Amino acid sequence: MFVSDLRKEFYDVIKGKRVLVLVHFDVDGICASKILQSLFRTDHILYTVVPVQKRKDLVNVYENHAEQIKHIILINCGGCIDVVDLLQPADDIIFFIADNHRPLDICNIYSGEQVRILSKLGDDEQVPAFSDVFREDESDEEEEESDEEGGKRPRFDESVLEKRMERRRWEQQRHKIVFDYTQFSYYGNSTAVLMFDLAWKLSKDSNELLWWAITGATDMLMCEKTEQDKYLLMTASLQNHVSRLNHKTQDDQPLDCLRITFEKELQLALYRHCSLVESMRHSLYPATSLRLWTLKGEKRLCELLAEMGLPLSQCKQKYSGMDMTLRNELQSLLEAKVEKYGLGNLLFASFTLTHGFRSKYSAMDYVYAASALLESTDKEKTSADAFLDVADSLSMNKLSVLEKGIEAAKQQLEAVYRQVQTFLDMNQIISAGPFLYATVIEGTPDARFFSAPQCLSLLARFTLRAHVSISRSKKSRSLPLVITTPDVRSSETNTCLVCGIPPVSEESPRNFFGKAFEQAAEKTASKSELEFFDTNVMRLSVDDRSKFFDALISLLS
Ligand SMILES: *[C@@H]1O[C@H](CO)[C@@H](O)[C@H](O)[C@H]1NC(C)=O
Repeated sequence: MFVSDLRKEFYDVIKGKRVLVLVHFDVDGICASKILQSLFRTDHILYTVVPVQKRKDLVNVYENHAEQIKHIILINCGGCIDVVDLLQPADDIIFFIADNHRPLDICNIYSGEQVRILSKLGDDEQVPAFSDVFREDESDEEEEESDEEGGKRPRFDESVLEKRMERRRWEQQRHKIVFDYTQFSYYGNSTAVLMFDLAWKLSKDSNELLWWAITGATDMLMCEKTEQDKYLLMTASLQNHVSRLNHKTQDDQPLDCLRITFEKELQLALYRHCSLVESMRHSLYPATSLRLWTLKGEKRLCELLAEMGLPLSQCKQKYSGMDMTLRNELQSLLEAKVEKYGLGNLLFASFTLTHGFRSKYSAMDYVYAASALLESTDKEKTSADAFLDVADSLSMNKLSVLEKGIEAAKQQLEAVYRQVQTFLDMNQIISAGPFLYATVIEGTPDARFFSAPQCLSLLARFTLRAHVSISRSKKSRSLPLVITTPDVRSSETNTCLVCGIPPVSEESPRNFFGKAFEQAAEKTASKSELEFFDTNVMRLSVDDRSKFFDALISLLS
């Protein structure tokens, strides 16, 4: 069931209880859990936070804790799975689900008291009607038949038959309705923003919590989980909170205070922390718009910088080392040239954070840093370590972890850029008919970066945009992309990760690969693991790869 009043029906219920919080491995989820934890600390609610990456983790963690804890909060996980069926909980266990994954499982939605969904459905989201998917009389039918005794029976034969046929029709109809409902995966609003809303309603909001909500929303934009227009709606409401919490003039505030500003920001990755040229290369939008992988593209970039009056030497050194005047004018100089160079979307509405007099960070910086730490390539780090690093990088008093994350993010983006260059130079993006296909070759030194779901998705988005930008075929815009990479992080040998993304022409980020992967794997009995909460990523045995792809092609043709 859906919870409509977060304060009364969620927060007041768990007050004074012990809670278990399961958090999905994504930046929005971790931001949401940071907000919750901060609320819990002020209200002395005892909590345990455990990260989960896959369905299996959900089961394991649940089994380890369900004895002692009756109130379980699922953040960005579990919404699309029938949790009661998966976990077989005792009656006194209650799940609260705040998940940005869609579509939400029908059983969760129609569960009575045991499953309570905190996320909200948009006006454009349709859920099948209860009577179309559940029948009250499901178990009664058999009984009815045997109940009918003696002389009555013959009279009912025809109606029993009629009833069965009606039932079969209903089941076929149900199958179709459920298929249509679950065919595409997509995302709802940021869970961090939802939790901030709760904090605000509890009058416990602050700039720190607001920054986490902003980071969560920005993560969803950067992962292309949110459309532009939804992001703009979201920023409008966040901007109201920014004005409310930052209305005091600077003079009235302590020197070390946090200040959030809403402003136009360049869509340039980490540009305050590297050189302008590096940043242009590593940012999806300018790199693909200028086609920086080609010689012509390089030339255009030089022309652009020259027209802006920026000496190349200035653009190749770290931003912090650039002339102060150039730094201050950078945004307006670029803005004047965006139209001419086809970079109309280079500026977007975003937020920045300043710590007293110290450096300024954009919301994008935070997301890049957190994403890189989350999928750290450091072999010494377990996933639990990585999760804690991300949580630290978001803390206001641990800027050194944030800085480490920024360094890690630069390496990640460099690896992505190199790989895209390789794909293009070697013509490794091929049309498989209904989709484009690219594979990271076994033994690629950077494979460690890509054998993690989010970096692989980033590589996929970069690859598809880059390909479309230089492709002569118009059709490429309407083709989705499937990318595979050796799964070098896995303990099992000979497996690969597979990730599918929608075509560039698709405005809404709806993705049909989750269902398609499931069907292709089933049909070919491929050794596979469909365990991620983002269902457009899966693991597959390399031996089964060709038959799996044959099935996928015929399925989507
Ligand atoms: C998502 O957030 C926007 C902006 O705050 C809001 O207008 C919209 O109603 C939200 N949608 C849902 C489903 O909560």
